Amino acid sequence: MTVFDAPTVIRTKRDGGVLSDDAIDWVIDAYTHDRVADAQMSALLMAIFLRGMTTAEIARWTAAMVDSGERLDFRDLRRGGKPLALVDKHSTGGVGDKITIPLVPVIMACGAAVPQAAGRGLGHTGGTLDKLEAIPGFTAEISKVQIRQQLCDLGAAIFAAGELAPADRKIYALRDVTGTTESLPLIASSVMSKKIAEGTRALVLDCKVGSGAFLATEAESRELARTMVDLGTEHGLLTRALLTDMEAPLGRTVGNGVEVVESLEVLAGGGPDDVVELTLALAREMLDAAGVDGVDPAQTLRDGSAMDRFRALVAAQGGDVSMLFAEALPIGAHSETVTATRGGTMGDIDAMAVGLAVWRLGAGRSEPGQRVQAGAGMRVHRKPGEPVAAGEPLFTLYSDTPERFPAALAELDGGWSVGDAPPVTRPLIIARIT
Ligand code: URA
Repeated sequence: MTVFDAPTVIRTKRDGGVLSDDAIDWVIDAYTHDRVADAQMSALLMAIFLRGMTTAEIARWTAAMVDSGERLDFRDLRRGGKPLALVDKHSTGGVGDKITIPLVPVIMACGAAVPQAAGRGLGHTGGTLDKLEAIPGFTAEISKVQIRQQLCDLGAAIFAAGELAPADRKIYALRDVTGTTESLPLIASSVMSKKIAEGTRALVLDCKVGSGAFLATEAESRELARTMVDLGTEHGLLTRALLTDMEAPLGRTVGNGVEVVESLEVLAGGGPDDVVELTLALAREMLDAAGVDGVDPAQTLRDGSAMDRFRALVAAQGGDVSMLFAEALPIGAHSETVTATRGGTMGDIDAMAVGLAVWRLGAGRSEPGQRVQAGAGMRVHRKPGEPVAAGEPLFTLYSDTPERFPAALAELDGGWSVGDAPPVTRPLIIARIT
């Protein structure tokens, strides 16, 4: 039997070698059970970041992460005598990407069921759990019994991965603070280990392309999407991906509480066009993948049925539904506004600059386990291509800790412009990968 040790595994990858299946199984298991130190895993993650992984290594690393915990199984659940149409979506991470919040209730209202293991913020991108926890009382720490009950009774549960892929929980937190997020093998294995373990039958991936995505080029994002679709298929999960634009932030808000407010606008039948378009495109993919036809997801936003489902979901998970309106949700105690020094047309807004600014405001973490500010965030008053008058507000930044404003403003600086001509328009949905 081969005996492994962390320094040898690290050196193998550092020097460009290929990790054996046994080495991968050992290091994931040893790290999950605290027999490999954070410092050693950080070094290995950086070596993977720099050297990459073969397709076979990614497949084994993902399978080892799935095997690090339990795998949920909802195949026995029935509604109206029929098996639940289980489907989920996962985004590779973006700026202003609040889509899960309106999307899950839309799917519930259309008759499918969403078992969603959701994540926290990673790097400059926000996380669904951090956003939903801005609703007073909302908890994602729910039991398996409650998840099953909610899936049957309501059609969704949004939960912290908990005992699912615990290796990912530890590695995710470490990547967030060690500059190792932007790695194809690490993103693919992180996303797919949770999704394979969570017990969904079908999965739609929202693979971001552009400055605010972890992988900036379209070619890299395509490769990531292909890798994840293949990983899902190998594990018996019907998996599809949309490549979507992330050059500019989605919608007009970025942060925690502010993104919940904007999601409520979408659920009330309004909200920014790009958020509505992406919510509906992903909903159609999910319903198709789940085999649900004859329903129009847009109707659920118009008739209030998706909003009703959202309220029921929030209430089931302890959230105070009486707080679900803009004035009640947390907003930073201090604000700073950036105004236009000239009139013209809003140019491109760099999603990365906005994401980093919001992270600096306190919406994300710089140390593992740090508490985020529910009220930290930004409003984008003018989207690319919209007319701008001299002196009017372009961005409002919010934080509970005003000493954060200079660093946040410095990140935003240079990330936008006002010009004479509108910027080149890009399609929001770039490609579909099956
Ligand atoms: N979402 C995840 O779950 N993991 C990543 O690495 C990126 C996005």
